[in-house]
Amino acid sequence: MKINVLFSPGSIDELYFTGKTTVVIDVLRASTTIVEALKNGAKDVVPVSKIEFAVKISGGMFGGQTLLCGERNTKKIEGFSLGNSPLEYKKEIVKGKSIVFYSTNGTKAIVKAKYSENLFVCALSNIHAVAEYLVKLGKDCVVLCAGNNNLFSIEDAVCAGAFIQEIINLQAEVTLSDSARGALVLNNSFGKNKLNIFTESEHGKILAKNGFLKDLEFCSTENTTNIVAYYNNSALKALG
Ligand code: MLT
Repeated sequence: MKINVLFSPGSIDELYFTGKTTVVIDVLRASTTIVEALKNGAKDVVPVSKIEFAVKISGGMFGGQTLLCGERNTKKIEGFSLGNSPLEYKKEIVKGKSIVFYSTNGTKAIVKAKYSENLFVCALSNIHAVAEYLVKLGKDCVVLCAGNNNLFSIEDAVCAGAFIQEIINLQAEVTLSDSARGALVLNNSFGKNKLNIFTESEHGKILAKNGFLKDLEFCSTENTTNIVAYYNNSALKALG
């Protein structure tokens, strides 16, 4: 299995993803939030790349069964039901609901990769489950880091490396691109405890300053679910 890592969606055209198997990572916090929503019984999560689309789509969806959710500058958007803290996505709130979801970098990366043959969303919370699924699928894969405003972000790069390490641990034969090798080295240099690097990261510091310190802890916890978030027909659903 060949693995490539894109450290940001910036310079890549959406047609690049045609026919590819892609794993999108925005560990702080969109991919963690999406996985948490599906874990807690959301029917699906519809990622959108613009706030206006979110409002438009949710307006046409079936009333009480849809939640309009997302963040701008890390905070809940005015008039939306939930922001982008995974801690908000509790069972009693999201069960059975369609979540229309916008985030600054994460949902844009997912939408950019929409032409992929297979498209997954990965966080630390479901990293083993996604790696296991990918190994069974046996296809070459591209790990797309959401990054920060089309630039590198260390937390996504470390998570990409942790994902590659999971695949190696499953004894899959891998061929790594230079960027994949870089992500792996980065992950191994920070060790198992991801909270330290999340707290020191640029985005982690902003989240802490904005009152989301608990989210850093939540997002750094590995393997709390075996949900595999899979994109099909414009929505992410839980496989298995
Ligand atoms: C993003 O998509 O940029 C992030 O998930 C932002 C955030 O932490 O709310």
